[in-house]
This record gives sequence, structure tokens and C-alpha cells, in this order.
Amino acid sequence: MADVVLKHVEKIYPYVEKKKRSFKRSLKNQVEEKAKKSNLQLTEKGVLAVKDFNIEIKDGEFIVLVGPSGCGKSTTLRMIAGLEDITSGELYIDGKLCNAIEPKDRDIAMVFQSYALYPHMTVFDNIAYPLKFVKYKDPLPNKPDNVRHLTKKEIEKRVLEAAKLLEIEELLDRKPKHLSGGQRQRVAIGRAIVRNPKVLLMDEPLSNLDAKLRNQMRAEIINLREKIKTTFIYVTHDQIEAMTLGDRIVVMKDGIIQQIDTPQDVYEHPRNLFISGFIGSPRMNYFDAELLIQAGQYKVVLKNGYTVVPCEEKQARLRNNHVKGQRIILGVRPDHIAIKDEGIECKVRVSELMGASSHIHAEIIGNDYTLSKDASSNDIIAIIQNNGTYKNYVGSILKFGFNGNVVHMFSKETENNLEF
Ligand SMILES: Nc1ncnc2c1ncn2[C@@H]1O[C@H](COP(=O)(O)OP(=O)(O)OP(=O)(O)O)[C@@H](O)[C@H]1O
Ligand SMILES: [Mg+2]
Repeated sequence: MADVVLKHVEKIYPYVEKKKRSFKRSLKNQVEEKAKKSNLQLTEKGVLAVKDFNIEIKDGEFIVLVGPSGCGKSTTLRMIAGLEDITSGELYIDGKLCNAIEPKDRDIAMVFQSYALYPHMTVFDNIAYPLKFVKYKDPLPNKPDNVRHLTKKEIEKRVLEAAKLLEIEELLDRKPKHLSGGQRQRVAIGRAIVRNPKVLLMDEPLSNLDAKLRNQMRAEIINLREKIKTTFIYVTHDQIEAMTLGDRIVVMKDGIIQQIDTPQDVYEHPRNLFISGFIGSPRMNYFDAELLIQAGQYKVVLKNGYTVVPCEEKQARLRNNHVKGQRIILGVRPDHIAIKDEGIECKVRVSELMGASSHIHAEIIGNDYTLSKDASSNDIIAIIQNNGTYKNYVGSILKFGFNGNVVHMFSKETENNLEF
């Protein structure tokens, strides 16, 4: 285990001349590049992929980097691994400045999205491979500085331990092509943990798996975390993975950290509009609203006059920040919307029975309260608990309301949460 500290870390990829980039690009690459280009931060020197990245990761902590494509997650991870130079700033692992340390000497292992197994080797040999390079001190009476490789027996013991942990003992003699995707990913994880690295880096390790396997592997990573003593840094663009795995999550956008907090804090107190929309599924509902101060109290008023008084905790934060009355973007999560006597009048279009709850998509009647420019702009999404009896509301006209403890108030100008 080790703590990992990044101080003012930046990465600029220098521009590459066109000639050098005359490689053939697949259609998929082209689409991905297009998506990435939209987030490009172009500077004189090159592409600014990561900007002023600061974090102190504690020994044994599980950190998740999350954000849309091209936001600099992989670049950050690759700088920690030593696969990418750090343009400026400092990286400390276990208190030691590591900017110039070779990847192999950083005591770090990395798991990639593409499993990168050796096809001609068995599972056993794939897992054992990194141990060939491990040297450790074994002082002898006449040679106190003796350093040696692991013996065959020791390697076998370590591989079996890793295989047992990942429940792939019966696959050790097979070649990767005879394994399923999930099994291959487990072998890749086995190969990473067999050296007992101080830090385990994982770059979207589950994104090649189908939904069911993904859920299963996610649970297994939680298990693994309990069993091995390592600091985890995990990259994903899947907000559910981020919420379920991380002790803390780092939300990134355009190479810049937006928020570092526990999953609960990011969910309950998103710092800005972007984070509020990125974390949480189905996503937050947004309304055009007015923040008023009446008799020293803040009130949120919607276009039809529906008024919600933020809870005392929120009142205090707004007061501390000297927030003035203004037009705001009001955010409310679907799980916080309830059928009430007063609220926003809607006609239910779709009702999805999810089991314990149903997801209701409803069209707002009358005035346009919502802000988003997409096609379903006039829609509200609400999660209604069924309490044992599912009621199909399709076609009904309902009023949706919410309480003062669940309103998120964002500045229209800066898109920042006014409570911060
Ligand atoms: N070798 C490179 N040369 C130039 N620019 C690069 C290079 N690698 C990445 N970039 C750019 O740096 C930015 C961050 O890329 P990065 O791969 O870190 O994003 P990411 O968050 O991992 O995205 P994804 O979710 O798609 O994997 C992007 O704008 C990307 O185009
Ligand atoms: Mg990436």
C-alpha cells in the first residue's frame, strides 16, 4: 500500500506534424476522435489534456476518476504509471518524488480495458509473467546484499493464491482464446495483483463486458478490495461504477477537476450543473425558477407560482454566501419528486415498472418550466415507490412536487451551486 500525491500536475501533448499521423484510422477511431476533439483544450504548446491536478490519495483508498470521453482520465492514470511524461507538477508515491522514476520501479500495476494477455501463453504463465522480473533481498551469511529471483515453487504459490482469490484455479492450463471476456479480465487482474503492487491502476477494466457480467465483476472488484491491501485508482466513464466503487470520486471535465468528494457528497451536493447532470441516473430534472428573499428567508418560486422553501441547512449556506435574489436553474433528482396536492401539473406519457419503484416520464402542461434544449425538454422524470402495488399512471394528470431539502440551486450565469 502507498499514498499517492499529485501536486499541480499538468499534461500537454505537443502538436504532431500531419505527415507523421498518416496512419489508417478505423471508423470507430474517427468517431471517438471527433468526440474527443470537442473537448480539446488547445494551447500554443499543444493539447492541454490535464490541468492543475491536485489530490492526496490515502494509503489503501479506492479512488475513481470519472468524466466524459476525452476529459483526461487515462492521461492522469498513465502519468501515475509512468507511461506518460508529466509536463509539470509533482507526483509522489509513498512520499517519494516519482516524476523521473521508471515505470517498472514504481511498484505499480495496471489493468487495461483491452486485457492485453499473451495469446500463446497459458493462464498460469500469463499470471506468472511479471514475477519473472521480481527480485528481492535474501541475505546469506557470506553475502549480506544477496538479491535473487523467485524460485519456481514460490512463483507457483503466488500464482495459485491469485487464481484462488479470483476463482480461476480451474482455468490455469487454458489459453486466453478459450476464455470468456469476464474470465480474461480476471486473468488480467490476476497478473496485476500477483506482484502485490503498492498501487493498482485500472483503466475502464469492465467496459468490454456485457451489462450482466459488468455488474458481477463490479461486485467482485469490491470483494477484491476487501481482500488485498492496495491503493486503487480506477478510471471509468460509468457513473454507477464510480458511485458504487469509490471511497472518493474525482469528477473531471476538459482536463480539470470539478469535484473530489465521497459518492454521497457528490450526489447530494454537486458543486455545479455539469456534475449534477453527470452523476445520478435517470438524470436530474431542471427548471427555470426565481430565488426570492422574503422576510429574511429564501424561497424558490416556479413559473406557475409553486413555491418551495429550502431547508434550514440550505438557507444557512445561502446566507453565508450572501446569495442575492436571482433567476436560477433549479435541479431536482427524479427520486425526490413525489405526487402531491400542489406542484407542477403533468400528463404521464410513459411508466416503466422497475420492480420496487416505477420511472414515470410526464409532460409538463402549460408553461415551459424546463431549460434543456433537447427534444424531451418539456418532460419530468420521477421515480415513484410502488410499496408493493404497481399503479399504471399512463394518461393520468398528476401534480409533482418536492421538499425543501432536495432542491439544488444553480446560478444561471456561472452554473455553480449557490450553496458553495
Ligand atoms: N498521444 C496523444 N497526443 C495528443 N493528444 C492526446 C494524446 N492522447 C490523448 N490526447 C488528448 O488528450 C485529451 C485527454 O485524453 P484521455 O485519453 O486522457 O481522455 P479519457 O478521459 O481517458 O477519455 P476516454 O473516456 O475516451 O478514454 C483528449 O483531448 C485527447 O484527444
Ligand atoms: Mg481513457
